[in-house]
Amino acid sequence: MKNDHNILDKWQRPLRDLRISVTDKCNFRCTYCMPAEIFGPDYPFLQRVELLSFEELERLTKIFVNSLGVKKIRITGGEPLMRKNLPELIEKINRIDGVEDIAMTTNGSLLPKYANDLKEAGLRRVSVSLDSLSDEVFGKINGKGVTVQTVLDGIDAAAKAGLKVKINMVVKRGMNDKDVVPMAKYFREQGHILRFIEYMDVGNSNKWKLDDVYPKKQILEDIHAVMPLEPIAPNYTGETANRFQYIGSNQEIGVISSVSDAFCSTCNRARLSADGKLYTCLFASKGHDLREPVRSSLNDQELGSVIENIWIGRKDRYSEERSSNSTNQNKVEMSRIGG
Ligand code: GTP
Ligand code: 5AD
Ligand code: SF4
Ligand code: SF4
Repeated sequence: MKNDHNILDKWQRPLRDLRISVTDKCNFRCTYCMPAEIFGPDYPFLQRVELLSFEELERLTKIFVNSLGVKKIRITGGEPLMRKNLPELIEKINRIDGVEDIAMTTNGSLLPKYANDLKEAGLRRVSVSLDSLSDEVFGKINGKGVTVQTVLDGIDAAAKAGLKVKINMVVKRGMNDKDVVPMAKYFREQGHILRFIEYMDVGNSNKWKLDDVYPKKQILEDIHAVMPLEPIAPNYTGETANRFQYIGSNQEIGVISSVSDAFCSTCNRARLSADGKLYTCLFASKGHDLREPVRSSLNDQELGSVIENIWIGRKDRYSEERSSNSTNQNKVEMSRIGG
């Protein structure tokens, strides 16, 4: 039978979710992800020849789905819509038997241009990042002075095209913690699920400190004081967000608490970078190269075994092991693996 594979890692976690980064480039320079002083004009972004082609990605995805247990695909970046002809890749992935869900994580700025094509190609859902409703705050965070309306237009375009929409808000103390309640109110009215993400120590560029984290408990208290909340059950095992709804409604929010309440024990996600490295954790230092094997003479079964062995050896549980301010100094950049 297809797609009933249960390859387990060292902590008995199956592989279900493949996050494919299609580019390491982005048209934003968010301070917590790609600070402009580091990701400047001389930054060594990947060259075209280094990227996996759509055909290579299609082949790898088929192997992940048919032989390794993956059911859900998420397209990420950098900003995934910076990759040329992205709807063509979505179409290829959508045709693979056994793919139950295709989503994309985006900054929303290019959705007015691409939302219809993406929907037509088979994309189901988008997570759009937006950290504030104030142009002053948001313009500083995104490092390019991009306006809030630009992202709201992207959200509208996605919803109009028939894509399901969630909003992701990274919350950092002193940066936008005052925006938690206004964002909650606004998206409650709009009827979109808003998820608050604790600021994380991904990559090596954002000078993360534990004090900068505005924890889940505080976020929930702030909202609960004005709009009372109650918890709701997870949608699926291994979900990143804890879900809540406003009492008396079925409007939902989520909190992703990788720092204050880690969720490694159910983590079933693998990440593929645009240049074909497989990362078994968001905080990994090293990826396992799949580009060389995919370009070699290995057949699909042999390639499947290579990946299976990587997963079987997986021991990562970084967020559960994280110690206050001393984080591993050699981690892959967020823009390489899309969060
Ligand atoms: P759904 O499929 O809608 O549940 O979305 P998702 O939460 O899997 O994906 P999304 O890209 O919207 O992720 C939201 C945030 O959660 C991002 O900031 C990610 O970096 C973070 N995140 C996703 N997966 C993991 C993970 O395995 N570990 C950690 N620490 N953070 C994660
Ligand atoms: N901490 C938490 N979330 C982050 N993201 C990017 N960098 C960080 C960070 N340091 C978020 C983006 C996007 C998702 C892919 O990850 O805002 O929503
Ligand atoms: Fe770009 Fe998203 Fe990173 Fe911001 S968080 S710089 S939008 S990839
Ligand atoms: Fe998974 Fe690593 Fe995130 Fe833990 S820190 S949930 S192992 S990606």
